[in-house]
Amino acid sequence: MDTKPIMLSADRPTGKLHIGHYVGSLRRRVELQNSGDFSECYVMIADTQALTDNWENPNKIKENLVEVALDYLSCGLDPSKTTIFVQSQIPELFELTCYFLDLVTLSRLERNPTVKNELKMRAFEESIPAGFLCYPVSQAADITAFDTTIVPVGEDQSPMIEQCQEIVHKFNSLYGETLVYPKIMLPENGSCKRLPGLDGKAKMSKSLNNCIFLSDDRKTVDKKVMTMFTDPTHLKVEDKGHTENNPVFIYLEAFVTDDHFRKYLPEYADLASLKAKYENGGLGDVTVKRFLAAVLNDVLDPIRARRKEYEKDIPAVYKVLEEGTLRAREKAKMTLSRVRRALKVNYFEDHKFIEKQCKAFKKKLADEEKLAAYLAKQKH
Ligand code: TRP
Repeated sequence: MDTKPIMLSADRPTGKLHIGHYVGSLRRRVELQNSGDFSECYVMIADTQALTDNWENPNKIKENLVEVALDYLSCGLDPSKTTIFVQSQIPELFELTCYFLDLVTLSRLERNPTVKNELKMRAFEESIPAGFLCYPVSQAADITAFDTTIVPVGEDQSPMIEQCQEIVHKFNSLYGETLVYPKIMLPENGSCKRLPGLDGKAKMSKSLNNCIFLSDDRKTVDKKVMTMFTDPTHLKVEDKGHTENNPVFIYLEAFVTDDHFRKYLPEYADLASLKAKYENGGLGDVTVKRFLAAVLNDVLDPIRARRKEYEKDIPAVYKVLEEGTLRAREKAKMTLSRVRRALKVNYFEDHKFIEKQCKAFKKKLADEEKLAAYLAKQKH
C-alpha cells in the first residue's frame, strides 16, 4: 500500500473562519502544502457535518460555503497543490460511513468527550439527533477515504482522530489490511491548540460571539482587541499582573515574532521581557492591547488583500471547489473499491468467485442428474 504522507483537514461551514482556526490548523496546512513533503493534500468543507446540528437552517451552510472557500484561498491554500472539496458531493464518504457504523457501539459514541461537550452546549436533552452523535464516524470516513496519514487539527479534534484510529484498527483486523492508519498533528505552540475567546472563555466560537474573523478589517480588530478580557486583578498600571490565562498574552504567544517587537515595541526584545514587565507591575493593558492589535493586523493584512482579489470573481471560487471535488471523488472511489473488496460486497466484479460458484452449481446439477438416472434404472 502507498504510505507516502497524505494530509487532510476540514472545517464546518457554519460561519467565516476566525484566528482560532488559523493558528489551530489553517496556518499549518499552508506550511505542509508548501513543504513539498506530501504526495497529496486535501482540505474539505464539511457541509454534511455542519448539517448535523444545522439541519433546520440549510441556507446558513449554503451561504457560508463560499466564505470558507475564500478564507482558505486567502490564507494561501493553493488549488494547484491542495485539493479543496465539498463533503456532501462525495457519495463514497457516506457509503464508507455506513460500513463503519457497524464497527462502533452507541456507548463508545456517547463517550467521545468533544461530542459530549457539544451536546451539553446545544442542549439537545433527550432528543439527540442520530446524525450528530455519529458524526465522528463520518469523520473517520472523511479521513480514511483519502488514505490520509496526517491530520493537522486543533486539540478539540483529538477524540475524533482517536475514534478514527480505533475504526481503522478494527476494520483492518476484521477484513485484512485495507485502510491507512492516520495520525494527528497538533500545533507545537500550546497557545495555538485552543485559542480562548475575546471574553476569556475556553474557546473562540462564533456562537459565543467572541471571535476575531480572518476577514475582519483593521478597525474591527482594533475595536475587538480593546474590549478583550485581561487580568481582572490588574487595575492600575503599577499593579502586578498575571499573564497566565490572560487571553491578550495567549494571543501574543500564538502570533508575535521578534520582528513585531522591533517594529512596534522596540523597548522590549521579546515576549518574555514583555511578560516580565507586566508581572512585576508598570505595564498597562492598553499598551499591550495596542501592540496585540498591531501584530494581528500585520498578520491579517496579506490575508485581507488576497481575499479582496478572490472576492472579485466568485464563480471562479466555485470552479475551484467543483474541480477539487471531482479530483477528490476519483481518489475516494479507489479507496471504496478496496473497501468493497475487503468487505466482500464487490459482487459484480468478483469474476473468480462467480466462476467458483458456477462450477459448484454445475457439479451439484450433474450429481443430481446422475442420482436421478441411477434411481430410474433401479425402478426398471
Ligand atoms: N470536526 C471538524 C471541525 O469541526 C471538521 C472535520 C470534518 C474534520 N471532517 C474532518 C477535520 C476530517 C479533520 C478531518 O472542525
